[in-house]
Amino acid sequence: MARRLLQDMKERFERLRTPFYYYDTALLAETLAAIKSETDKHEGWHLHYAVKACATPQVLRLIQQAGFGCDCVSGGEIKVCLENGFPADEIVFAGVGKADWEIELALEAGIQYFNVESIPELEVIAEIAKRMNKVADVSFRINPDVGAHTHANITTGLAENKFGISVDDMIHVIRIAEQLPSIHFVGLHFHIGSQILQMDDFEALCHRINDLQVLLEAEGISVKNINVGGGLGIDYENPDEHPVPDFKAYFETYAKHLQLRPGQHLHFELGRAVVGQCGSLITRCLYVKQAKERQFVIVDAGMTELLRPALYGALHKVQNISSLSTPQTYDVVGPICESSDIFAKDCLLPETKRGDLIAIRSAGAYGETMASQYNCRELPKAYTGE
Ligand code: LLP
Repeated sequence: MARRLLQDMKERFERLRTPFYYYDTALLAETLAAIKSETDKHEGWHLHYAVKACATPQVLRLIQQAGFGCDCVSGGEIKVCLENGFPADEIVFAGVGKADWEIELALEAGIQYFNVESIPELEVIAEIAKRMNKVADVSFRINPDVGAHTHANITTGLAENKFGISVDDMIHVIRIAEQLPSIHFVGLHFHIGSQILQMDDFEALCHRINDLQVLLEAEGISVKNINVGGGLGIDYENPDEHPVPDFKAYFETYAKHLQLRPGQHLHFELGRAVVGQCGSLITRCLYVKQAKERQFVIVDAGMTELLRPALYGALHKVQNISSLSTPQTYDVVGPICESSDIFAKDCLLPETKRGDLIAIRSAGAYGETMASQYNCRELPKAYTGE
């Protein structure tokens, strides 16, 4: 299947009620193939798709068919993955606040391992596993105290963030795990943040892990799995120029700088880079409103369908797919009763009129999954492919 321009989808879109998400499955297939062609070169490398980015069944199934496992952060995500064909033993489960029922569900299903974020959590998993007569495989999420060049709300690997266990406590928690008969220590987990485009951030993580491995070896501790999380960013400004992220640079950084030990496995948890460019939020212009100093395009999607601009000031390219008229400057806003319900300010669009279809691009990751029903709105529907 070949990729199609959104303009060419206009006829089909006209028949659908807006707003909705559209996922370009041809681009997704291309993206998955690009990832596989980099990772298949390496033995012992494993891909877990970060389901939080997009959990739409049609999208999940394609990712599963490409041979990915998944990275879940809730019982709900584990259920969705199982329903969509992911084998339980390729699911890893992270999150700072796992509830008892979620731990039980994960143990019952037989997931690959838990990414454990604190000693109290470890103790609860041990207790539940013991009661269920099981042994839980656990990795510890270590906070590497490595900064990342990204939005402050989406860095996770700094000492000040709530995530993970500090480097200073690492050996202590492993020793505790070794004493617990219902726990089996299988690895270390890291994740420094999201929407990272500078490869030296990932390189810094590699060096940090190399140092930690030396420390662990001195203690006689061997580690089966190293999980480096996700974080690779996408080009929000130029989705058409860079529809497929630079996986070569990303994976080569790990191949070059991370010193894996013989037989050690390396796990990745990419989310945004897999699905981000494949999705667009398709909306319709309801009104063009001329205010004193500004001209507003009011569309029928809002922060309820795509929260990122309101929450992080995130930029998403806005495209009028119905008009080719002379460009004008608009603020593109939603209908929600919040001043932050703005998609783009001072946006150059072809002259826009009521009824025009507008695509908000690069919305495949953290778009539909973060939608809400504020103002009693319906959750957006999703369509794929042709
Ligand atoms: N692994 C862990 C442990 C994570 O916390 C995350 C994302 C990922 C993997 C996947 O990261 P990615 O490859 O997608 O960067 N809602 C925000 C992003 C939050 C990311 C949370 N964790 C946004 O819209 O930008």
